[in-house]
Amino acid sequence: MSHVERLPRNRTYLMCPPEHFTVEYAINPWMDIEVAVDAGRALHQWEALRTTLTGLGHQVHVLDARPGLPDMVYSANGAFSVDGTVYGARFKYPQRAAEAAAHQAFYASSFSWRFVAPQQVNEGEGDFAYLPGAYGGLVLAGYGFRTDPAAHAEAQEVLGRPVISLNLVDPAFYHLDTALAALDDRHVTYYPGAFSPASQRVLAQLFPDALLADREDAEAFGLNLVSDGRHVILNTEATGMARKVRAAGYDPVHVDLSELKRGGGSVKCAVAELRA
Ligand code: ARG
Repeated sequence: MSHVERLPRNRTYLMCPPEHFTVEYAINPWMDIEVAVDAGRALHQWEALRTTLTGLGHQVHVLDARPGLPDMVYSANGAFSVDGTVYGARFKYPQRAAEAAAHQAFYASSFSWRFVAPQQVNEGEGDFAYLPGAYGGLVLAGYGFRTDPAAHAEAQEVLGRPVISLNLVDPAFYHLDTALAALDDRHVTYYPGAFSPASQRVLAQLFPDALLADREDAEAFGLNLVSDGRHVILNTEATGMARKVRAAGYDPVHVDLSELKRGGGSVKCAVAELRA
């Protein structure tokens, strides 16, 4: 990656406080129902993340948490928006199904969004990423654990942007956003080992200048980052990843999200980007 100046762009995000966050079921390998979550700590860490984003000049909308939906804090899974069109989520597991309607209600009430309800199972920004400056606007989409590949074709029809399907093969990295992140409008970082060999070739062809992460970075949730094009907000444990993004000209900003990691998520999972 060349050392050009990394310019931030103001973003609008949607977060949901971990008011009802627990680990009471296990739908990914990180979740352990035997280990109690520290609710106060989770809320405190979430507040610090929100303050970090607003402190960088971004707007953060808050979706009210609902009792009985302990994973609702992972707001990235609730929808995927591109240029004012919102492709709604449809969760794979029944425990999370009702979150989709809460997100839909947000879009119906808050802005003039075009909301499209999905037919196919998909977990929003968990498995979809958007690169507005790559190839005129490119969607990357993961499948293998949660999102049905049929949703990739559906998203392409709804959003009118090319969607590249990528096969996730490691259960530890069950959502695309645990294995790949947009660093800015054109550049990505990813852990190749999370993808099938063919999908690795696709990524190498489309993004020859990508910043490559290793397994340690991915396990520290270092790829589960949020970037505004300059500031890269990532989990405190992801020290190797912080060094890599700094060497590539970005400014890493650490936040401690140790409690959210117990549910199998970190920064990106807790932050949906709203692209009007
Ligand atoms: N416990 C949640 C699940 O397994 C974590 C979701 C993490 N979100 C994300 N965008 N990767 O569904």
